Amino acid sequence: MNADARTSHAGTPALALHDVKKNFGQTAIIRGLNLTVHPGERHAVIGPNGAGKSTMFHLVSGRIPVSSGSIQLHGRELTGMPPYEINRLGLSRSFQITNIFHNLSVYENLRCAVLWSQGHGYAFWKRLSRLADVAERAEEVLERLGLQRRRNTPAGLLTYAEQRALEIGITIAGGAKVILLDEPTAGMSRHETDRVVELIRTVSEGRTLLMVEHDMSVVFGLADRISVLVYGEVIASDTPQRIRENPRVQEAYLGAVMEAHA
Ligand SMILES: Nc1ncnc2c1ncn2[C@@H]1O[C@H](COP(=O)(O)OP(=O)(O)OP(=O)(O)O)[C@@H](O)[C@H]1O
Ligand SMILES: [Mg+2]
Repeated sequence: MNADARTSHAGTPALALHDVKKNFGQTAIIRGLNLTVHPGERHAVIGPNGAGKSTMFHLVSGRIPVSSGSIQLHGRELTGMPPYEINRLGLSRSFQITNIFHNLSVYENLRCAVLWSQGHGYAFWKRLSRLADVAERAEEVLERLGLQRRRNTPAGLLTYAEQRALEIGITIAGGAKVILLDEPTAGMSRHETDRVVELIRTVSEGRTLLMVEHDMSVVFGLADRISVLVYGEVIASDTPQRIRENPRVQEAYLGAVMEAHA
């Protein structure tokens, strides 16, 4: 966590969800969800399968509309905005399923992400100097990911772990200040997980991170705060230590998970 975030949380939250509800047909999936993420914080969301974690991300990123409630990014109302507008306000997400262009090289994927975030789309006729900035930014991210040697490799030929790293790179390429990662280490070996954790640690420096994760060593290793989402509601939001000790959390989720890992 950076120094600002450590001091006071009196200011405007980076992200705030107030009484958010989402129904699919007759079924209430998100049932009055409240969540506050402070600027500069690494915030993990944990909870059982089907609790609504990915759905919450879809709502925040504007991919699906809320049924009711409010979602604010740095105090600005997001509900009703299309995803690209939310993205340009500085919120970027990766999906639980990888969303890279498999036929494009690693470098081109990053370059597209930078262009897209700046609103260029595929308009390659924009001023050359701007394009030079874009190239420079893409190179910076490439280096940060440690994927320089894979620069010209089609993304579809990367290992699974490299693809997930690239995806994180795409998330930050546009300079987003708030990043959402949905299960960034899912399906990875211990070694790969450790590398991705380090990557997340460096890329989230100076940004706000909201992350869904099932791997408790990742969660407790990275998060400044943890929220527990159970059956469409946040039942606790606290420091890792207090979450670990919370009897309600133990009962609803963590007890079973911890036992499974014992
Ligand atoms: N488009 C949809 N239409 C109907 N039901 C949906 C839709 N999307 C998700 N659901 C349901 O909403 C519930 C929450 O799903 P969601 O994917 O948000 O859970 P999750 O917490 O991310 O789970 P996991 O940990 O397994 O990824 C599930 O019961 C799911 O079947
Ligand atoms: Mg999910």
